[in-house]
Amino acid sequence: MIKTNTVYQIEKFYEGMKKYWHPVCSFKKLKYKKIIPIQLLGEQIVILFLQGETAALLDVCKHYQAQLSLGKIDKFKGNDCIRCPYHGWAYDRFGKCIDIPQINKKISKNIKVPSYQTCEKYGIVWVCLDHNSKSEIPDLPEYDDGNYRKINFFEKETTKTNVLRMIMGTLDNTHFPWVHGGILGSKGKINQSKNNCNFENNYLKVIYSIEQPNNLVTFDQSDELIEKSKSVNIKYTNYVTINTIRLVKSGPSGNYSIWLSSCPNTFNESTNFWIFSRNYDKSPKKDKDYLDLAKTVRLQDKVVIESQTPKLLIPFNSKIGIPIMSSDKPIIEYQKWIEKLGII
Ligand code: FES
Ligand SMILES: [Fe+2]
Repeated sequence: MIKTNTVYQIEKFYEGMKKYWHPVCSFKKLKYKKIIPIQLLGEQIVILFLQGETAALLDVCKHYQAQLSLGKIDKFKGNDCIRCPYHGWAYDRFGKCIDIPQINKKISKNIKVPSYQTCEKYGIVWVCLDHNSKSEIPDLPEYDDGNYRKINFFEKETTKTNVLRMIMGTLDNTHFPWVHGGILGSKGKINQSKNNCNFENNYLKVIYSIEQPNNLVTFDQSDELIEKSKSVNIKYTNYVTINTIRLVKSGPSGNYSIWLSSCPNTFNESTNFWIFSRNYDKSPKKDKDYLDLAKTVRLQDKVVIESQTPKLLIPFNSKIGIPIMSSDKPIIEYQKWIEKLGII
């Protein structure tokens, strides 16, 4: 019988994830569209660009619960607002109702839709549903480092899995020869490298070295000085937080960094925001080749990750899986950590 998650597990996940920042949409797209409806931790939220600022409101009108995101951006007494499509009530970026066209008197300050913290970083709009949260947006040092060429790849389609499984699948390294044979591993060649795992400044840091095939993401293919062998030794240094992972691959030409932050739309659906950085072979003309390779890897992973059930990761001791203590160490550490944080 296929296992499904219980209502208790789902509610616990939503509650546990509320205090973290989650990536929700491209900032560039928001500036252009002004109104973007999204789902975050099962809540319907509208992301807005009002008065030159980002804002996030519950996407439900106080009057008769119509979806605000079906409305439009308007102006009322000089202030930008979103106007409900049903009877025209207008709300400012803090969710306060500032105009009710059917009445002509002062509006109670209690007429307000919930608003949430937002900010912009790495070209992404982030939302945190908990006003008292002290959590921080995960690091991406390559982003402001002029030595790196960066490519954004913000997926339009959701992935039918839970964010925790998405991060776990990106941290897992023993699947390389099976799922990414010829790109990240060689079929039949099992990775038995030693995984070094420890916790550093709120990150799970995982280091290992493995042999990978010769291609764009192992070293600069145009470098005449590098001997073109069949495989090359790559050192991975991974930094993992709840919903984000940064994999820094160090090879003979320099570093190739893969950063993934995944938005938990619901317990069984996620949206991936990727940023790839490299400090070698930096010509913009080469971006397409790097992106194509990343997309190929992404699609290979998608098939297996979406097949995993139950969708939401459950506690380590649930006995649903049979982890191998040595080779699965990084993902075991991640799962136990998430459990300790009260998310699963
Ligand atoms: S439901 Fe929004 S104004 Fe009536
Ligand atoms: Fe993979």
